[in-house]
Amino acid sequence: MRSFLKTKTAIALALVVTAGAAQAEDVEVLHWWTSGGEAAALNVLKGDLEGQGIGWTDMPVAGGGGEQAMTVLRARVTAGNAPTAVQGLGFDILDWANQGSLANLNDVAAKEGWDDVVPAALQAFAKVDGEWVSAPVNVHSTNWVWANKSVLDANGISVPTTWEEFTAALDTLSAAGVTPIAHGGQAWQDTTVFDAVAMSVLGADGYRAAFIDLDEGVLGSDDMVEAFERMAVIRANVDDNFSGRDWNLATAMVINGEAGFQMMGDWAKGEFLNAGQVPGEDFLCFRFPGTQDQVTFNADQFMMFDQGGAVSAEQAALASAILSPSFQSAFNVVKGSVPARTDVSDEAFDACGKQGMADLAAAASSGNLLGSVAHGHANPASVKNAIYDVVTAHFNGEYDSATAAAELVDAVSIAK
Ligand code: GAL
Repeated sequence: MRSFLKTKTAIALALVVTAGAAQAEDVEVLHWWTSGGEAAALNVLKGDLEGQGIGWTDMPVAGGGGEQAMTVLRARVTAGNAPTAVQGLGFDILDWANQGSLANLNDVAAKEGWDDVVPAALQAFAKVDGEWVSAPVNVHSTNWVWANKSVLDANGISVPTTWEEFTAALDTLSAAGVTPIAHGGQAWQDTTVFDAVAMSVLGADGYRAAFIDLDEGVLGSDDMVEAFERMAVIRANVDDNFSGRDWNLATAMVINGEAGFQMMGDWAKGEFLNAGQVPGEDFLCFRFPGTQDQVTFNADQFMMFDQGGAVSAEQAALASAILSPSFQSAFNVVKGSVPARTDVSDEAFDACGKQGMADLAAAASSGNLLGSVAHGHANPASVKNAIYDVVTAHFNGEYDSATAAAELVDAVSIAK
């Protein structure tokens, strides 16, 4: 019996070790793309590499927004066992680069002219001291609303363009017995909604002053109190089971017609597409009312972790595949995001994707393109987490709106 147990343990350990270690010619990729739409997009990348004879060891870590993935990553790096390539966002990428953990991608970047085609807003999170440290996959934005078209039609609701029209639509749905807003109560989701709501009240300049410059006057302003008041209205329009719900399950509520709207980044579009739905026919996408000419963005990138020496041939191949124009089109069409290169045609994109590309270009030239707080493009993790705590505590009724704005000032000043 004992020796049987020992053998069993040895086999189990061997399995764990084999699963954790990539073959020499493989890339091991740590990511959090585990929903149906995300997995469909990831398959485009896997297929691309397989076509080049490069194997893929998958290291998925469930949890939208990537917090859990970053916890697993820290443990792997601390154990001296960093994965080959890791999905990363904004300030997290800069942190890893500054810790000296990332391989230098300058040779691939120079050969393929990344400097000329990747927009400055992304280069700010992909280059450190003139060194390319990660490969940008896409640009997402968080200030979108997703709607079930038949639910809106049945209730005589047209796309709301102002906060007042939006709240009127919520009241109509509520009276009709439909959940107005599908939401998942997780800190990153609460804050994704807050990105858009705060931008709608503060405008681009106020958002920049509050969340990028961390100006205490704006963080604690009457406008910020108003932003929290709007969050309270949103809280009053979600169903009773919102707490802890995963974002893609909230999207499913809109897909199934259980709810009218979801405020979520454009990765939600991947779920609609994966369910066979068509924009303009089954679902609608529009900017959160009051942010029509603004974009709060986040960009997924793959960081290549230094495996001891120069960037490996497989890492270089992965980086090069990610930035190729054909991949940028094929992947982003499925993912819901838009290309990380400015020279990719919008031809293959649906109406939401075309709008996303046009909005991004317009916001970049008008100065209304600002990093998402919720997705690590406004602040380093310490400040981001401090904001998460206040937004979530307010959403769950622990603070009234005036207290939340005051707490925001304190929490940010301690964290920064
Ligand atoms: C974001 C990421 C997106 C999407 C989303 C939900 O942080 O940028 O690609 O996957 O999380 O998981």
